[in-house]
Amino acid sequence: MRHALTLSGSIRQDSYNEKLALYMRGLLEEKGAEAVYVDLRHYVLPVFNEDLEHNPPTEAMELALKFKAADIVFIASPEYNGGVAPLFKNTIDWITRQRQGAFNKAIFGLGACSSGKLSGYQGLSHMRDTLTKINALVAPMDVRVGPSEGAFDAAGNLIEEVARGRAETLSEQLMRFSKG
Ligand SMILES: Cc1cc2nc3c(=O)[nH]c(=O)nc-3n(C[C@H](O)[C@H](O)[C@H](O)COP(=O)(O)O)c2cc1C
Repeated sequence: MRHALTLSGSIRQDSYNEKLALYMRGLLEEKGAEAVYVDLRHYVLPVFNEDLEHNPPTEAMELALKFKAADIVFIASPEYNGGVAPLFKNTIDWITRQRQGAFNKAIFGLGACSSGKLSGYQGLSHMRDTLTKINALVAPMDVRVGPSEGAFDAAGNLIEEVARGRAETLSEQLMRFSKG
């Protein structure tokens, strides 16, 4: 059985990216994976600074080990000022410094929800670039939601048709390209 993690690069209350990460958890479960939403509110990491590496927060290692054990990791994150959101980058930076090979096994999937109609596609490109540079395998499809308002129903289902189709294709790719 595939073991999947889904995460959000926004911990804002009522975050759209969190909605997308939860929706993808459901899609992966439907396809037979055991999927867990990892809430980064429970993994509070200070802004990375090499001085802190001598005494790293235990949450950094916990996340690194979760990533290392996963077959699939889906991350939805907003774009801030045309680039990656700080929570995404800080989390990745802390995990790489645990030196667990946390990005060597899973296939990664990406998504972005934006308040605007461009959906955060520029941030998605930066996220893909960062992951590729640390040798992570990233699925070709991504999920783009914008504007996010009205894209999800009250139960958290993605109802915007184009984004919904992309989510379906990405979940298929993540299952197909991963090993159980
Ligand atoms: C500092 C900051 C910068 C932002 N820059 C962008 C941007 O470049 N492009 C964009 O589409 N949205 C941008 N936004 C708006 C986000 O798309 C919007 O806040 C989004 O809903 C955040 O995701 P969330 O609902 O998961 O928290 C920005 C928001 C903030 C707070």
